[in-house]
Amino acid sequence: MALLDKTFYIETFGCQMNVHDSEKVIGTLLHEGYRRVDTEMEAGLILYNTCSIRDKAEQKVFNRLNDYKALHKKGKRFAVLGCVAQQEGEKIFERAPYVSLVSGSASYRKLPEMLAQLEAGTERITGLDDRQTEEAFETEFTARSNPHRGYITIIEGCDKFCAYCVVPYTRGKERSRTSSSVLAEARHMADAGYTDIQLLGQNVNSYKDPSGKMSFAELLTAVGQVHGIRRVRFTTSHPRDFTRDIVEAIENVPTLCDHVHLPVQSGSTDVLRRMQREYTREWYLERIAWIRAARRPISLTTDIIVGFPGENERDFEQTLALLEQVQYDAVFAFKYSPRPNTPAVSMEESVPEDVKTARLQQLLDYQREIQRANYLKHVGELVEVMVEGHNRARGQISGRSSQNMVVNFTTGAPILPALGSYLNVRITGAFPNSLLGEAVVWNAAAADRSRHPMDVPVKISVV
Ligand code: 5AD
Ligand code: SF4
Repeated sequence: MALLDKTFYIETFGCQMNVHDSEKVIGTLLHEGYRRVDTEMEAGLILYNTCSIRDKAEQKVFNRLNDYKALHKKGKRFAVLGCVAQQEGEKIFERAPYVSLVSGSASYRKLPEMLAQLEAGTERITGLDDRQTEEAFETEFTARSNPHRGYITIIEGCDKFCAYCVVPYTRGKERSRTSSSVLAEARHMADAGYTDIQLLGQNVNSYKDPSGKMSFAELLTAVGQVHGIRRVRFTTSHPRDFTRDIVEAIENVPTLCDHVHLPVQSGSTDVLRRMQREYTREWYLERIAWIRAARRPISLTTDIIVGFPGENERDFEQTLALLEQVQYDAVFAFKYSPRPNTPAVSMEESVPEDVKTARLQQLLDYQREIQRANYLKHVGELVEVMVEGHNRARGQISGRSSQNMVVNFTTGAPILPALGSYLNVRITGAFPNSLLGEAVVWNAAAADRSRHPMDVPVKISVV
């Protein structure tokens, strides 16, 4: 059955890498003459860009396919992209026979060919690579979803093989882009009016410039010096490759944000060893000490897995003690989920589900109190906020500080500041996950453009 019309609907699950991949897929589809629509019902082609990091994420896509499979009879076609596609491969056709296209992220370069096959009526199209692939998806057609803040992938894949993780299997081996192509993209984005850049990679700080010109810290510095760029973030860092020069770069380059996301996964050296994380609790804390000793206050966030096989009460208490010691500003905590093909799947001493649930809840409650106290310390400070949204009902504006904290504030003016503009906000209140404030002497004509006079003119939107 050939494709009826060239309209598409896409839904994205998972991490920022997937969100950014979808931006590139959307750009490619638009370039191939497709039109984007807002619902499955309106679309000729329905794409799901999937995540398989935990079982729950994986099940979501099969539920979605199941919900909408009747649409296949109306001539609509389904494509499964991303990590579940790469992991399950052709098995997806068995489980959901109405799917026509299955492609992992390393094959998106072939999307135009695959789309042509789809349009010609081919029923089972695959784009599946083995782990050794050198493919990376660079395209000039990226359809970025935000006109101020944009992603740049600097490294794909992962060679770390943590015992619980699917990523080395779904996204292949590590491959970095050249520093010159990253910088060209950053300049191009700055020229187009972007002021906030987020460098992406599964292990962003494992970056190795294929041209040998720059270390990761040097690349950070260079992106931070691109004219017009006011904020640079990077995610996700692996503690094993976290070097001191990254902290020095943040100290020296004002545009590098005061925030490091450094997943620890567990506070117990025993658990870390079984997880194959290749560091100890002490080794991790040494990196934290470097960051805490920086001349600027750098906010720290982390990821934690509770209930990894063999984790006992004492191990878990060490994780809580680590949270107390480090004082993170946000913690993303997950129950361990066994994943296919990973070494941890066959490990003994699995932790019962109810224990995992109880530990997760205890950890979240514990961390909430840490954050409650930490966020309160910001009351009275003046912070620069990039405007991200307006809540008209509450007359509030929301944005983010350089430390990546959500700040909800008012301006006292009838006109709201444009999305993407930067304002100085006095912090007047705090919750465990956000700050409250008031913009300082703000009027529409005086929105802060001081650091980069060449920035796009500040647009005033009346909402
Ligand atoms: N189970 C639970 N959480 C996981 N993560 C990765 N793999 C698993 C898994 N099998 C978490 C880690 C990682 C984050 C992106 O997801 O904490 O840092
Ligand atoms: Fe999920 Fe990992 Fe794939 Fe991102 S790379 S979508 S987190 S499985």
